[in-house]
Amino acid sequence: MLIGIPKEPLALVSATPDTVSKLIKLGYDVSVESGAGDNANFPDSQYEEAGAKIVGDDVWTADIITTLDTPTAAQRTAMQPGATIISRLAPGRNEELIEELASRNITSVAMDTVPRISRAQSMDVLSSQANIAGYRAVVEAANTFGRLFTGQVTAAGKVPPAVVYVIGAGVAGLAAIGTANSMGAIVKATDLRPETAEQVESMGAEFVEIPVATEKSEDGYAKEMTQDQAQAAAKLYAAESAKADIVITTANIPGRKSPVLLTAADVAAMKPGSIIVDMAAANGGNCELTVPGEITTTDNGVSIIGYTDLAGRLPAQASQLYGQNIVNLLKLMTPEKDGQIAFDLEDVIVRGITVTKSQNDTAGAAQADILWPPPPVKVSAAPASNQNNNANATAATSETEEEEKKPSGAWKWIAGALGLALILASPMQVATEYMLLMLAIVVGFYVITSVTHKLHTPLMAETNAISGIILVGAILQVGSSNIAVAALAFLAIVVASINIFGGFFVTRRMLTMFDGGN
Ligand code: NAI
Repeated sequence: MLIGIPKEPLALVSATPDTVSKLIKLGYDVSVESGAGDNANFPDSQYEEAGAKIVGDDVWTADIITTLDTPTAAQRTAMQPGATIISRLAPGRNEELIEELASRNITSVAMDTVPRISRAQSMDVLSSQANIAGYRAVVEAANTFGRLFTGQVTAAGKVPPAVVYVIGAGVAGLAAIGTANSMGAIVKATDLRPETAEQVESMGAEFVEIPVATEKSEDGYAKEMTQDQAQAAAKLYAAESAKADIVITTANIPGRKSPVLLTAADVAAMKPGSIIVDMAAANGGNCELTVPGEITTTDNGVSIIGYTDLAGRLPAQASQLYGQNIVNLLKLMTPEKDGQIAFDLEDVIVRGITVTKSQNDTAGAAQADILWPPPPVKVSAAPASNQNNNANATAATSETEEEEKKPSGAWKWIAGALGLALILASPMQVATEYMLLMLAIVVGFYVITSVTHKLHTPLMAETNAISGIILVGAILQVGSSNIAVAALAFLAIVVASINIFGGFFVTRRMLTMFDGGN
């Protein structure tokens, strides 16, 4: 099949030379509209080297078209019946578009409806673009802000650090938190979803809780607030914004207009020179005074940045990540690597993104099936998987259908009672050893459960060195005249040595990974 990469109205492009070569490895032919990558610094020659054919606007006649956003009506008309469009189609807001695509027998795949499950993270364009946008939001704020982010003590006097307050700790919010933190600011954040507290704190920010309890999210997205919650949240946002130098708002509820979190009165109470970056500007805005696409300054000197193209301000990287998301999706949908796209609608990801499906195999069928909306995918929120100071954050959710079952408290009592019975029933010397074993289990349990999951592997690898005690015991016993004891001791030496050296080897590999492979 032929994939067409058209020129986009913005600086971005839906495939880079790198992702084109990956599409070709999946068996596809690729044609790129001349000049498609110019604004992202990918000249036609690089696409040609990657194996693509450079074409004119006949790119729209390809079997599969990939774009950033919904193509114009004229471009849609240029598509062949039976063709496939892969794009951010926002099907929840575009009922007419869905009907039009169906009536033209066009298969449509909405990249912006990839379910938020772990397996789909590599295809999630909302995450990859919001991550870049969150970073850029801080860069834009720093550019407009007239002061340093980091605190400094200089010969000429002390400079306090900037205070950054982030409202909405989803993908963009977490990326903004990581970026602002790495620039030395004091960062605070609030989110409706209480489960984000751990993610916010792991990015080095303080989580400022909404004083009225909010519900845990089941799908990684927020739900509308109750009136009590909304009132408490509004007070909190006003108070924190008045104290902050920079406020970054990212609050978003899928399928709805963005909630207004900062009123004109809240902005009037902010310090002169402070900044608001309203990342939700394109969807109505989180601040009452935001003008989409522009920077405005209020009478009291607060600058409100309403850019709607934050990811597009880093076009090369944004295009590369978008293109890679498409490659990852097509890897899933091209299991034979034969350049033929396959729709396995049993797969929750494929089902979630397929909006219309053309009736290619039914002779004469003119209409595509409308498969929107897909059945809901229930996921439980889990800590963001790849948060780090490179702001490569994503509000990941795990694919578990059920909440992880927490062990009930009863087992602790049963284990304790058994342990006590064992100690009481044993001779004095053995009883002391049992007691030590019990204490070791209790201490071990609390140490391991207090360490974040991400660090379990290095922790376990490191604690394997405790096998050294076994090694010492085994060396003392290996010379025993009893053959069985000597053989067991020898075996213990071998196993403990593997454990110790293996542990250090794994730790070293983990450290190299954290060090970026250097
Ligand atoms: P997300 O859904 O991952 O995160 C939004 C967060 O806001 C969620 O954690 C949610 O719980 C929280 N939230 C919702 N209502 C809230 C409230 N009233 N108070 C506190 N928290 C609340 O969304 P993502 O991907 O991080 O995107 C955030 C926003 O940034 C979206 O509006 C998106 O359209 C926008 N965006 C803007 C770009 C630009 O260039 N300006 C580029 C990319 C994304």
